[in-house]
Amino acid sequence: MSEIHKQVQDYYGQRLKTSDDLQTNACCTLESPSKNIREALSLIHDEVQSKYYGCGLCIPNELVGLKVLDLGSGSGRDCYILSKLVGQEGQVVGVDMTQEQLDIANKYIDHHTEQFGYKYANVKFLKGNIESLSDLALEPNSFDLIVSNCVINLAADKRKVFSDAYQLLKPGGEIYFSDVYADRRIPQSLRKDPVLWGECLSGALYWNDFLNIAKDCGFTDPRVMKSSAITIENEDVQNKVGDIQFFSVTYRLFKLDNLESDCEDYGQAVKYLGTIEGQEASFDLDDHHNFPAGKMAPVCGNTYMMLYDTRFKGHFEFYGNFDTHYGIYEGCGGNMPFNSEEGSNGESCC
Ligand SMILES: C[S@@+](CC[C@H](N)C(=O)[O-])C[C@H]1O[C@@H](n2cnc3c(N)ncnc32)[C@H](O)[C@@H]1O
Repeated sequence: MSEIHKQVQDYYGQRLKTSDDLQTNACCTLESPSKNIREALSLIHDEVQSKYYGCGLCIPNELVGLKVLDLGSGSGRDCYILSKLVGQEGQVVGVDMTQEQLDIANKYIDHHTEQFGYKYANVKFLKGNIESLSDLALEPNSFDLIVSNCVINLAADKRKVFSDAYQLLKPGGEIYFSDVYADRRIPQSLRKDPVLWGECLSGALYWNDFLNIAKDCGFTDPRVMKSSAITIENEDVQNKVGDIQFFSVTYRLFKLDNLESDCEDYGQAVKYLGTIEGQEASFDLDDHHNFPAGKMAPVCGNTYMMLYDTRFKGHFEFYGNFDTHYGIYEGCGGNMPFNSEEGSNGESCC
């Protein structure tokens, strides 16, 4: 166990008792949950909720029957929401290395099984390090979805987390996760500060390093779902980090081996059928692809594959193929891919 792991275990196992003990608002969720998530949340035990330290909403649509893995599941809040949304026939596995957090998560398995009206539990929690997922008895190519909420920044070897996650996903599966990113590489002096690391700041990846790591691990075309600037709101911490800017970002990365490094134009289009629960009027693939129901929309080759070769296929009509290439697809991509506005919908932290 490395020094970083010991510090993180101490931070989340001993130092923090509830989310009120956090020193900054880096671990705060500002997004409004959708109706089905709000309903599931209302059934989650207060003790589980009081030890929630996530920084975003890492719960996508179209979950019924899926097998899901949560990296750094903490007290289990997101696992229990997912347990409700995947239904009795789905499965959820949470992995965390901090015993105190696992104890809370395990304590309420029966409670939630009963709350959701299930005959048997569809969720379990494993003790383990997300940087050595291959040490756990998890079957390669077996998960439809991997989620993670404000954890990967805390890992010492982030590349290993993404490469192991890639191995565990089924083809067409995705990792959908919220985390903290910085607008530059964090200096070594700040990386040694255990509070800044525990608060999910000094372990944050520079966004462009993240993109390169994700692509190297096989996630060729990362898509931002949601991003907002983090306001630190702690003078001491703000003085230490100076003018480094931090962002809370939810990404979706598909395991699709036919994606290209750039968005290319093959003259293709799709039409959304309006059949995904909770997104009947329009479907958001990412923060710049919104598909209104019934409207034909031109797409690049990568977006076409993200809809055609995944669980979303049955919800679209597809037009065209890859026979003719018309050049680069204008309209995808850009520079720093984040929204620099602060989260502002008035939701309370954590
Ligand atoms: C900020 S908390 C988030 C917990 C949970 N996802 C939530 O939203 O409440 C970070 C969690 O990640 C776990 N963690 C950090 N690094 C880890 C690692 N390398 N392996 C396993 N768990 C880790 C910690 O024990 C802690 O429970």
